[in-house]
Amino acid sequence: MTSPARACIIGHPVKHSRSPMIHGHWLGKHGIDGSYGREDVPPEAAEDFIRSLAAHGYVGGNVTMPHKEAAFRAVSRLTPRAEALGAVNTVWYEDGVLWGDNTDITGFLENLDERAPGWDSRLKKAVVLGAGGAASAIAAGLRERGATEILVVNRTAEKADELARRLGDCIAARPWPPTSADLVGADLLVNTTSRGMNGKDDLDLDLSMLPADAVVTDAIYVPLETGLLAAAKARGLRTVDGLGMLLHQAKPGFERWFGKKPEVTRELRALVEADLQP
Ligand code: ATR
Repeated sequence: MTSPARACIIGHPVKHSRSPMIHGHWLGKHGIDGSYGREDVPPEAAEDFIRSLAAHGYVGGNVTMPHKEAAFRAVSRLTPRAEALGAVNTVWYEDGVLWGDNTDITGFLENLDERAPGWDSRLKKAVVLGAGGAASAIAAGLRERGATEILVVNRTAEKADELARRLGDCIAARPWPPTSADLVGADLLVNTTSRGMNGKDDLDLDLSMLPADAVVTDAIYVPLETGLLAAAKARGLRTVDGLGMLLHQAKPGFERWFGKKPEVTRELRALVEADLQP
């Protein structure tokens, strides 16, 4: 008899992670005798912990803040996306070899595909606010979908410059704060900074220069409707909240650990949304 497959979220802290809820829902839906737990691992122990995941009884897991770079170093094989980003958020074994992927790109793209169909059909220019891990994944995803000009606007200029160096010619770094001139002709505006999160100041950005068919999205999902999304809606623009990115990035890991392709359904979304209520 084989023992039930165990996966987990590895981070510091991990108390508030919604990943156990998402994977627990899918385990129940598919009637799989497996589990998905939490592992709060301090930074100095993260790389070793991930490298010896099987010895801790796991078939794989997700990796969150602040361990995505440690996971990049810990795995033996990388997908091209993880390699390009220098960060890993999903690990699993194939023939005893530990692999690492970065599914934030998939999460971002599939969320937009689901909630703003056709968003990339004439994609040329995008504006990304922030230059951290989420921004790198999003910029890489936008480049995959054909964006030719991606403005990265970040408070710390060196981080935007670094992202432009790593991802290539189509990225241009711009100084903080974003201006309405940055938005001229943009097909997509994405916020990845913490501005607009519960308890933090909203972005104060005049959206009037965005074209009428632009899409505005936020990586934040608490609250679901940030000030930026509310302002975009008020202008009649299509908007997409950040919850779907979290749900969609979870899919590839589940399939690798438990062997079934999960779906992001309205039921799952409602379950997580209910948990986000204060
Ligand atoms: P994530 O993985 O979510 O991208 P991160 O790597 O910590 O998280 O990146 C957070 C981003 O939000 C950074 O671009 C950060 O800007 P800095 O590079 O200057 O730190 C941005 N950010 C955080 N707080 C901000 C604020 N109050 N105003 C503007 N940008 C902010």
